[in-house]
Amino acid sequence: MQSFKEIIAYFDKRLSEIQYPEKPELLYEPIRYILSAGGKRIRPSLTLMACNMYSQNIERALPIALAIETFHNFTLLHDDIMDHANMRRGRKTVHVKWNENVAILSGDAMSIIAYKYLEQLDNEILKPVLHIFNRTAVEICEGQQYDMDYENMDNVSVEQYLKMIELKTAVIIGASLQTGAIAGKAHEKDSALLYEFGRNIGIAFQLQDDFLDVYGDPKIFGKNIGGDILSNKKTFLLITALNNAGGGLKQKLDFALQNNYTDSQKKIQEVTAIYNKLGIPEASEKLISEYFTKAFDFISQTNVYPEKTKELLSFTKSLRERSH
Ligand code: IPE
Ligand code: IPE
Ligand code: MG
Ligand code: MG
Ligand code: MG
Repeated sequence: MQSFKEIIAYFDKRLSEIQYPEKPELLYEPIRYILSAGGKRIRPSLTLMACNMYSQNIERALPIALAIETFHNFTLLHDDIMDHANMRRGRKTVHVKWNENVAILSGDAMSIIAYKYLEQLDNEILKPVLHIFNRTAVEICEGQQYDMDYENMDNVSVEQYLKMIELKTAVIIGASLQTGAIAGKAHEKDSALLYEFGRNIGIAFQLQDDFLDVYGDPKIFGKNIGGDILSNKKTFLLITALNNAGGGLKQKLDFALQNNYTDSQKKIQEVTAIYNKLGIPEASEKLISEYFTKAFDFISQTNVYPEKTKELLSFTKSLRERSH
């Protein structure tokens, strides 16, 4: 078995060897730019690790890993337009460096290139993998639309939020593991357990992302801080603050959400101060831990020697402590 660090390095190397055409430059240069910007490679690493639990030959899962990472990066290009984000992975976002049309079309091409990698799969696994891939791709769109809808709604529940992040973020993490296990020829029960493991990790992962959007260090996180506050994203932080604030604090929070600030930093500071007063960071930490704990329960039910789950568990623990 390979260590998770070896697996990430292996994937990064294989990804960096891919050559895209030179022309049209404004189609392919942004693809090279985003793919070489140093993402954490969480999803493809999970695919390869899940495969490695059942097979020595992780190369079998490589087309899936490449497809998933390419698809993920496509979603980031479009997401950054939708979220008006100007920084990612410590660099300008594609629509800021070039323009929105470029980010849309390079994103479209990446979503299709992702499918081209899947062409390389053996016939026996192509169909089940394609089925999971397609279902997941549509679910991500659903999640992204809920995310946008909720910006303009003021009565979003924690339950609705959790469903939204499950769709936009968690299902692809579940699918990464499930398809990797399929490539490793795991039994269906195990690949389904790994999906559930990933789905729970994924929910925790988006809760962390929302937490870091307020409390992260932009130099480490690689994205601007406070973007979610500026667009009134209905994160667990904001929903819980809206539910728990009383009297003066509630008025202040409602005012911050409705007001058009000329100084955006002021809005971020005011909302963050309200979160701090209400103990929202602690509530978020607690929920994150609950989802990690839930996830671990699924992995312990898989039908492999405990030794085989070791790398996946260490990698997950490193995610638990992440600051980027
Ligand atoms: C960013 O995903 C989008 C979310 C689901 C929060 P990652 O945090 O995995 O981004 P990279 O690929 O490492 O940059
Ligand atoms: C992104 O969620 C989910 C997808 C890209 C599908 P966010 O909008 O929170 O991700 P970041 O913070 O921009 O990476
Ligand atoms: Mg975003
Ligand atoms: Mg978004
Ligand atoms: Mg975010």
